[in-house]
Amino acid sequence: MNKTLGLYLHIPFCISKCAYCDFYSITDDSQMQRYADALILHMEDYSGAAKNYYVDTLYMGGGTPTSMPKKMILDIIDGIYSNFNVLETAEFTIECNPATADRSLLSALYKAGVNRLSIGVQSACDNELRNLTRIHTFEEAVETYEAARKAKFDNINIDLMYSIPEQTERSLAMSLQSIVELEPEHISLYGLKIEPNTPFAESADRLALPDEDTEYRMYEQAVRFLESHGYRHYEISNFAKPGKECLHNLRYWNCEEYLGLGPSAHSYFGGRRFSFKRDIESYIDALENCGSDVEIIDENYEIPPTERLGEYVMLQLRLADGIDTVEFERRFGISFERLYGKFLKVYIENGFMQKRGTRYCLTLKGMYVSNYILSTMLDFDEQAYGSISTGLDK
Ligand SMILES: C[S@@+](CC[C@H](N)C(=O)[O-])C[C@H]1O[C@@H](n2cnc3c(N)ncnc32)[C@H](O)[C@@H]1O
Ligand code: SF4
Repeated sequence: MNKTLGLYLHIPFCISKCAYCDFYSITDDSQMQRYADALILHMEDYSGAAKNYYVDTLYMGGGTPTSMPKKMILDIIDGIYSNFNVLETAEFTIECNPATADRSLLSALYKAGVNRLSIGVQSACDNELRNLTRIHTFEEAVETYEAARKAKFDNINIDLMYSIPEQTERSLAMSLQSIVELEPEHISLYGLKIEPNTPFAESADRLALPDEDTEYRMYEQAVRFLESHGYRHYEISNFAKPGKECLHNLRYWNCEEYLGLGPSAHSYFGGRRFSFKRDIESYIDALENCGSDVEIIDENYEIPPTERLGEYVMLQLRLADGIDTVEFERRFGISFERLYGKFLKVYIENGFMQKRGTRYCLTLKGMYVSNYILSTMLDFDEQAYGSISTGLDK
């Protein structure tokens, strides 16, 4: 047994729904207990398939896992240890909204093996938090952070956002300053994305959003500021003190296996990619009545070699270290430069990419427009690929 696995559990409950958010979650808590039981049943289902794996990263995300009562969360954690081979050194993260976690819950989580906390702070300016329809103030977020330190957490991530309605470069600078003073080990910084079918999408023209040039300057300003305070910008949206990168998320970007359970959760497990429908009712029904997840599987496909290659490029280029051409050729039996030459030339000439030794990586400007760049690179040179496809996936 030498394979490793990341385990993700989705907790689809929030106290209230933020107007910008498209993560799958509901505010009705009447099904919480049934959901916790269904999730444990689902873990039992997968315990056989995962018996030859060591779980080295665990992530409970959402939604807001800490909106569940303590006992329910602890039962789910027991379910993890009873069904999977969890390494003692595993990184175990739980996401929390500052309005939902008190000292007693945080201490109980720490004792149960959770060793990394991710707190959704978003901004240090209360008017921006109100604009985002968050249910906490910055002061409350700081109280949660301090409670987590008292509960012995020594690995904390803070989620921040830029391009918030009414945010300015000056107010972002204030937020960044307040956050680095707290000295979290890790910071995730997301540009506000207007997601279709959210209240923000419906009122987008009335939101006081920064224009595109300001948004780019905000990103650049934040990256420079965090780097100058000892945070390595190791992925488009992620910054870490040395050695404190999020190991679970690195699994995604390095194309390593992970199993995600719960509605909307995605997996890359046993050579397949699959996900579960965004519907808690059918999720619970399927596990209670059939003890099977066939009905609730959404996407489910074996990954064809070409797609594996495209996905590898897209995910690796998210990382600051970019893609290693030697490793690429070892994996896929084809030269990265031969396959992507036309893109590399244009992107380097226009300052979106750079070559460092045997690696290609995005520049800051490239990271800012990464969605566009990475999706065009999926459209790689089929002809070059087809003619040398025999050595695939060594
Ligand atoms: C599941 S939530 C984190 C935990 C908890 N639910 C909370 O909000 O505090 C994940 C993170 O995604 C980010 N996020 C969600 N929707 C976003 C959007 N539309 N644009 C940018 N960031 C978003 C927020 O920073 C949020 O903290
Ligand atoms: S941002 Fe967090 S708290 Fe807000 S709706 Fe999304 S998951 Fe829930």
